[in-house]
Amino acid sequence: MLQSIVLSVCVCLLHTVAASGPQSYQKLDFTNVGFAGTYNSVKKFTGITNNDTCNCEVGDKEWFSGVNAPLAEYLSVHFRGPLKLKQFAFYTSPGFTVSNNRSSSDWSRSAYYDSSSKTANNVTFLNHGGEASPCLGNALSYASSNGTGTASDATVLADDTLISSDEEYIIYSNVSCPKSGYGKDCGVYRSGIPAYYGFGGTTKMFLFEFEMPTETEKNSSSIGYYDLPAIWLLNDHIARTSQYPTNANCSCWASGCGEYDIFEAMNGTEKNHLYSTFHTFQGIEDLGTGIQSYGYIARNTTGTMKGGVVFDSSGNVVSFISDDTTFGQTVSADAVNELLAAIPQDETYSSQLMSISATAPTTSSKSNGISLTKMQNGVWYYIMAIFTAFTQVFLI
Ligand SMILES: *[C@@H]1O[C@H](CO)[C@@H](O)[C@H](O)[C@H]1NC(C)=O
Ligand SMILES: *[C@@H]1O[C@H](CO)[C@@H](O)[C@H](O)[C@H]1NC(C)=O
Ligand SMILES: *[C@@H]1O[C@H](CO)[C@@H](O)[C@H](O)[C@H]1NC(C)=O
Ligand SMILES: *[C@@H]1O[C@H](CO)[C@@H](O)[C@H](O)[C@H]1NC(C)=O
Ligand SMILES: *[C@@H]1O[C@H](CO)[C@@H](O)[C@H](O)[C@H]1NC(C)=O
Ligand SMILES: *[C@@H]1O[C@H](CO)[C@@H](O)[C@H](O)[C@H]1NC(C)=O
Ligand SMILES: *[C@@H]1O[C@H](CO)[C@@H](O)[C@H](O)[C@H]1NC(C)=O
Ligand SMILES: *[C@@H]1O[C@H](CO)[C@@H](O)[C@H](O)[C@H]1NC(C)=O
Ligand SMILES: *[C@@H]1O[C@H](CO)[C@@H](O)[C@H](O)[C@H]1NC(C)=O
Repeated sequence: MLQSIVLSVCVCLLHTVAASGPQSYQKLDFTNVGFAGTYNSVKKFTGITNNDTCNCEVGDKEWFSGVNAPLAEYLSVHFRGPLKLKQFAFYTSPGFTVSNNRSSSDWSRSAYYDSSSKTANNVTFLNHGGEASPCLGNALSYASSNGTGTASDATVLADDTLISSDEEYIIYSNVSCPKSGYGKDCGVYRSGIPAYYGFGGTTKMFLFEFEMPTETEKNSSSIGYYDLPAIWLLNDHIARTSQYPTNANCSCWASGCGEYDIFEAMNGTEKNHLYSTFHTFQGIEDLGTGIQSYGYIARNTTGTMKGGVVFDSSGNVVSFISDDTTFGQTVSADAVNELLAAIPQDETYSSQLMSISATAPTTSSKSNGISLTKMQNGVWYYIMAIFTAFTQVFLI
């Protein structure tokens, strides 16, 4: 009862604000990112090439907590066409807080791709060209130089490679995973696949120079994402085990191990609007919808865009587009703050994520330091969830 009252009040307010529709911004800001929660990793899979036996089992709940959690874990970087990637860079900093130079240290680049010079430092291009499985979907494979074919070993994309609607590739680091295994760093994955770590750390920054030209092929019902380009981040376990499973237990995604969409066109009506979205359970129940910015970044279909996302040390996550983005080996803390501060307030859309209080039980720890009891917040959890979804709206 209480829940439905809260819901109806919120829905009214949503309509009031929503009447004008979402607007275009250069910067999409999220605050209070990170919470204590759990997800389930895949423990094992069996009979994976046989339609009748293909099955996955998940393990016990694993707790995470802290700033940016669970996105403080290793993340892989995903691209969907129509898209050309000109540059990609990954940075870490010992500590960085948005709009606070004094408590911020410089960023150092630990992975870099440049299309024109075919530079690929600490970058491995993969795609879904591997062996098919009825419950896991296709395994990972090395991408060939056009991004969509497969190769027998790591291959740098050809300059100016354009992938079309629905086509995807992924960037992982070049650091090899340990053997497949539940509780090991890279989790359970199929034998024979290229398995690398993604890009880890609480405080991190991903930068991109890219084009998202309008699709030139005709639309058809066989194209799932027609003219809907995207750049997004996943917990690096997801694609390694199964990015598109038919059984939700074949991936940690459904239990909330983490996705952040940096620039994503959502549907044909808004194909030139790039939204940022958290697919984590930080105060929501519907992971598929996630926590989306109520504003978007405009897709430039004729020019090159530069920008990316900063995950700072204080729970601020900022997606931005700026021609001032630079890709040097070091980018000073001042330079990043200056770039972000140069984007005016009226070009900034801010949302605050919900505070979730859950504490991992101190008993029954396993050797991996993760303990295993359900979060039982009952009704309050639902009420908080409803509020969170709308916190964004109030902050316009
Ligand atoms: C695989 O099994 C599922 C249900 O078990 C069934 O719906 C599907 O048609 C089967 N596919 C093939 C190719 O046999
Ligand atoms: C510090 O950050 C601001 C933006 O937050 C920037 O404008 C300024 O130039 C930076 N540098 C110094 C030395 O204050
Ligand atoms: C990974 O990339 C780094 C940076 O480019 C390079 O120094 C190193 O040799 C690469 N390692 C492997 C195994 O390719
Ligand atoms: C991409 O390369 C593969 C070989 O790696 C080839 O089979 C495929 O036809 C190419 N795709 C396009 C669109 O050229
Ligand atoms: C490559 O990236 C990984 C993952 O973030 C990192 O641990 C490693 O230090 C990087 N390698 C180099 C040479 O920077
Ligand atoms: C997933 O696993 C849970 C228990 O771990 C089980 O109850 C559920 O039926 C499984 N789902 C599928 C689709 O197999
Ligand atoms: C398209 O996506 C936007 C952003 O998620 C959403 O607000 C809008 O309702 C969607 N439109 C349609 C027709 O689905
Ligand atoms: C492409 O076609 C699908 C239906 O098959 C439709 O939902 C979508 O809006 C279309 N996209 C564009 C950009 O027209
Ligand atoms: C798109 O980029 C081109 C080239 O940089 C620029 O001239 C144009 O103004 C941009 N369009 C929009 C809508 O920002």
